[in-house]
Amino acid sequence: MPVVRDELLRLDSTQDIVAVRHEVRAWATSIGLNLVDQTKIVTAASELARNALEYGGGGTACLQVLEEGSRKGLRLTFEDRGPGIADIALAMTDGYTSSGGLGLGLSGAKRLVNEFEIHSTPGEGTRVTITRWK
Ligand SMILES: Nc1ncnc2c1ncn2[C@@H]1O[C@H](COP(=O)(O)OP(=O)(O)O)[C@@H](O)[C@H]1O
Ligand SMILES: [Mg+2]
Repeated sequence: MPVVRDELLRLDSTQDIVAVRHEVRAWATSIGLNLVDQTKIVTAASELARNALEYGGGGTACLQVLEEGSRKGLRLTFEDRGPGIADIALAMTDGYTSSGGLGLGLSGAKRLVNEFEIHSTPGEGTRVTITRWK
């Protein structure tokens, strides 16, 4: 699928999460997502960026604009080289948390986007990709 624009951001501090939220909002606006859909992908991005920082010890956020014919989409990939997730189904369960959180980051993010993919290998890291289509 053609990528017409992309950018890689570091996730090493809470300030980086603020920057990712800001960039995702701007990119979502630029492809014409309405305010509700902008907020959905910004919220999902915020949760995934926070997970990469909190559990993965930091990582990256890749922003991509996709074009498929006249259809545009915003795809975001969050990657870290942290401990990984041993049981992905458990981690995706509403309310499951290993850290006293709300346990709604992964499951909530999935509900807020059109496509959600998670790959994780214990000892190697985690990669989550989300896409919101216009
Ligand atoms: N990037 C990650 N690396 C390792 N573990 C993760 C990562 N993201 C999520 N997890 C695990 O999945 C659980 C659920 O994540 P989430 O739904 O965001 O809830 P919360 O962050 O509130 O615990 C976390 O508590 C953690 O154990
Ligand atoms: Mg979380």
